[in-house]
Amino acid sequence: MTRNDTRNADDGDEQRTNSSGTAVSEPTAGSEATSGSLLDSSLDVEGGSVPAGADTVIEARDIDVFYDDAQALQGVDIEIPENGVTALIGPSGCGKSTFLRTINRMNDLIDAARVEGELRFEGKNVYDDDVDPVALRRKIGMVFQTPNPFPKSIRDNVAFGLDVQEKDVDVDETVRTALERAALLEEVEDQLDSSGLDLSGGQQQRLCIARAIAPDPDVILMDEPASALDPIATSKIEDLIEDLAEEYTVVIVTHNMQQAARISDKTAVFLTGGELVEFDDTDKIFQNPEHERVEDYITGKFG
Ligand SMILES: Nc1ncnc2c1ncn2[C@@H]1O[C@H](COP(=O)(O)OP(=O)(O)OP(=O)(O)O)[C@@H](O)[C@H]1O
Ligand SMILES: [Mg+2]
Repeated sequence: MTRNDTRNADDGDEQRTNSSGTAVSEPTAGSEATSGSLLDSSLDVEGGSVPAGADTVIEARDIDVFYDDAQALQGVDIEIPENGVTALIGPSGCGKSTFLRTINRMNDLIDAARVEGELRFEGKNVYDDDVDPVALRRKIGMVFQTPNPFPKSIRDNVAFGLDVQEKDVDVDETVRTALERAALLEEVEDQLDSSGLDLSGGQQQRLCIARAIAPDPDVILMDEPASALDPIATSKIEDLIEDLAEEYTVVIVTHNMQQAARISDKTAVFLTGGELVEFDDTDKIFQNPEHERVEDYITGKFG
């Protein structure tokens, strides 16, 4: 894996390049952002309104995304409910990763990317000027296709995104809790000071999940989190996702239809052209979709 650890002093992000060449960012421990609020701490503005019907946590309204002049997403509307697993499926290049990155403003890190429309998280448009992307990414964590631990100890990996300025953070306790929630604690309890890179692929991915959940997010975004893993490690990750979904809202991109059918409650089908064609209960999508194009995709006629 290529690592490109460069610190960006301006915005408190540590930027790296993941296996697919996409810049990714983790909030740094020294960030100015106030945990628990999305707002830029230098601005004294009230938080967003909580939506009336309550259990929608993420709402996209007419989202278009462009990379320079090429449009990757067209008019995406979706309301993702709180907790449970929402799967994003569709053929390669239809914009699944682009949409996932739109949710926690990871597309900000891609120079060519431009987002139009509204993306509301708990009622607040995350593209408003007063939203701090670093604070947002603590609330909406992300896990990538290839496990990407930092070349640091297991403990430091998990503690990496914590806001150490928050007075009552007990780092050791938070690290242990996150590792436990990520179903990794038992395996690494005696080696918290060893490098995260010495773990197996499946363990590394659970470490990355622990890192994402340590700051106590509300939402975890996962982009094909098991596609680089063997079947046993994959099944551990799937079990873990189902456990996490009791407490967190999980949005997962997967190429594996069986996996989507197994672990998700809701499924969104994106098709070529960057359109979200159908979004419904997973059973309905897989058994009786409304759109013929969706049925063709699900049954393997194309894609
Ligand atoms: N960093 C980028 N710069 C320019 N174009 C990009 C970038 N990332 C994605 N695209 C383009 O946007 C479109 C959607 O890509 P995206 O990666 O979101 O698709 P995907 O559904 O996640 O595909 P896959 O299943 O292969 O991962 C594609 O046409 C892709 O070439
Ligand atoms: Mg993708």
